[in-house]
Amino acid sequence: MSAKKKKPKLLNKFDKTIKGEIDVAEKLRKKGKLEEALRAFEALVQQHPQSPRARYGKAQAEDALADKLRSNDMLQRSINTYREASELPDVTSDLLRAALKRRAERQQFLGRMRGSLATLEKLVQIFPEDIGLKNELGVAHLLLGDNKGAKKVYDEVLAVAPSNGFAKVHYGFILKSDNKIAESIPYLKEGLESGEPGTDDGRFYFHLGDALQRIGDSSAYQWYELGHKRGHFASVWQRSLYNVDGLKAQPWWTPKETGYTDLVKTLERNWKTIRDEALAVMDQNTGLFIPEEENLREKGEWGQYTLWQQGKKAGTACQGVPKTCSLLEKYSEATGCKRGQIKFSVMHPGTHVWPHTGPTNCRLRMHLGLVVPKQGCRIRCTDQTREWEEGKVLIFDDSFEHEVWQDAERYRLIFIVDVWHPELTAYQRQTLSPI
Ligand code: LMR
Ligand code: MN
Repeated sequence: MSAKKKKPKLLNKFDKTIKGEIDVAEKLRKKGKLEEALRAFEALVQQHPQSPRARYGKAQAEDALADKLRSNDMLQRSINTYREASELPDVTSDLLRAALKRRAERQQFLGRMRGSLATLEKLVQIFPEDIGLKNELGVAHLLLGDNKGAKKVYDEVLAVAPSNGFAKVHYGFILKSDNKIAESIPYLKEGLESGEPGTDDGRFYFHLGDALQRIGDSSAYQWYELGHKRGHFASVWQRSLYNVDGLKAQPWWTPKETGYTDLVKTLERNWKTIRDEALAVMDQNTGLFIPEEENLREKGEWGQYTLWQQGKKAGTACQGVPKTCSLLEKYSEATGCKRGQIKFSVMHPGTHVWPHTGPTNCRLRMHLGLVVPKQGCRIRCTDQTREWEEGKVLIFDDSFEHEVWQDAERYRLIFIVDVWHPELTAYQRQTLSPI
């Protein structure tokens, strides 16, 4: 690779004849006089519709103006204009590349993932030697949930550039998502060690540590430490990635500390009613609800029955447990918790849930014990391990690492009620994106 990037050549032969006019418009854009710049570029495009550079300038002015006005319409206009610029005859290859790259970026920003994929596919076709473009194409596949397509792209990149760190972290991430734990480790590790742009992402530290923990390698914590130092994790133990800064952070909470004592009392006083309704919706043969689908179990049977998620009732689930739902109705700290769930959780003997971390520090998790065997069930959160009791509520912050064991004689049933972190304001509770 060359040490210094050459300045891109944006002007074609014709553009050079109107360079003076282009510079005037460009100066306005650089000074942030975006409306004026756009008018200047629009006039140039009218006069010289065949000028790629004028069209590209118009796209850039629209692009910046879209940010300033927070206007999706303006952004869509710029996305179209970038394409127009790229399709003009005699466009320089540098301008073509820059226009389509920015178009793909802005399409992603607007959530036009299919469009962005198409743009990047075209780019890769035109510039097959450009590895950076292939790497971006892989990301576009991932954003569409097309891990297979992404894997194919990174396979190709690594075949020609085996030390490319960006491709490595993404390839490792895909392997890990595919449950190829041991295989994923060297890719994630070497990709992170490369320090290349685009590799320093909390998700890669998160998944590398998780993979190491699952194979029993304690170097996981060194990676968590580094992830913390680089600002991705609030602490080594607290590794959620969707956070509000500054919220009180501790693994275990008392009801009083949360301020939600009324809710806790309601749960504890009515635990038998809640238990009996849960038992009635469990499959009598298997003793299960629907199986847990987050790939958190090492082994065993673990089923959940969800009443609320993302602050909304889940389908018709409440029809099966009407008393439980009406008990909860008035507690908006729980039913309105858009970053949590309310659900029953049944776990059978021989289950081990890997150490893991929830997605956000915006919720606390209440566990009401409903059917709790005398021995063999425990939950560790950070370095403190506790046991459930029937009719009693435990409260922890699941953004801290936790792990569960079920080695009892029979199943364990609990009721999980997530509540907003008490320090979140009403405004934050209304406006935080759901998880
Ligand atoms: C968890 O929330 O990860 C577990 O504690 C749930 C459960 O059923 O124990
Ligand atoms: Mn959990």
